[in-house]
Amino acid sequence: MEIIILKNAEDVAAMGGELVTELLRVSPAAVLGLATGGTQLALYRTLVAKHRAGEVSFRDTTSFNLDEYLGITADNPQSYRAYMKREFFDHIDIDQRNTFLPECVEGQNPVLVGSGYEQQIRDAGGIALQVLGIGGNGHIGFNEPSSSLNSRTRVKTLTRQTFEDNSRLFSGNELQPTLAITMGIASIMDARRILLLATGENKAEAVGKMVEGPVTAMCPASILQMHERVTVLLDEAAAGRLKNRDYYDWTHLQNESLKDRFGRSHES
Ligand code: F6R
Repeated sequence: MEIIILKNAEDVAAMGGELVTELLRVSPAAVLGLATGGTQLALYRTLVAKHRAGEVSFRDTTSFNLDEYLGITADNPQSYRAYMKREFFDHIDIDQRNTFLPECVEGQNPVLVGSGYEQQIRDAGGIALQVLGIGGNGHIGFNEPSSSLNSRTRVKTLTRQTFEDNSRLFSGNELQPTLAITMGIASIMDARRILLLATGENKAEAVGKMVEGPVTAMCPASILQMHERVTVLLDEAAAGRLKNRDYYDWTHLQNESLKDRFGRSHES
């Protein structure tokens, strides 16, 4: 894993935005895997600003989101489709017909949505870069602790912790779903590159387990230790529990100079 520790959440979003932009400059038709949640808001703001400044175009890009709630429709402001439109898609030049979420429309069998979604991803050529956040309990997508490390896109029940973490976003009279359709852990691992962003002290424990703990289904993000090309962008607070902090900083410095000499990151 390449662990990069930055001063604050703003710097994390800036570097995340730069990595996405670099990819699209080289491969304008790259397939992006996208995430929702509070952490990603700054990344989307950064990418929208870069798009407005003419630094990046999404015209030829296809995107697949990690997850979508089950039980609310796409036009519900709480759906992840609505989040993506509001925060990102409506402000860039992506063709929204090329934006996909694991949505279950009225009359569809949710159990069958997963395999269809996996096929769509394969048909698009697979995900070049998957953006991830991490839950306070170590989840990625909605793969909660105890999810199979070999899981594919399917219906998952949210844990009480995730339900409560997300309840801040729902007002009293809004229905908060307890189910979601999420890409599986194996589906995420298929991405050719992974970019995980984590900010804030409430992520420090999960980040510590992901990076330095054992690979275990009880911390789904720990599987990323087995992926060939993962970049983890952290702010100081989220990096607070890392024991090997000095080594990550030292490696980052070395890696920057290798990048200057040979192009692309060499750390994994
Ligand atoms: C959402 C998703 C989740 C979030 C995670 C962190 O699409 O995949 O795994 O990334 O719950 O959420 P925030 O950023 O709100 O703390």
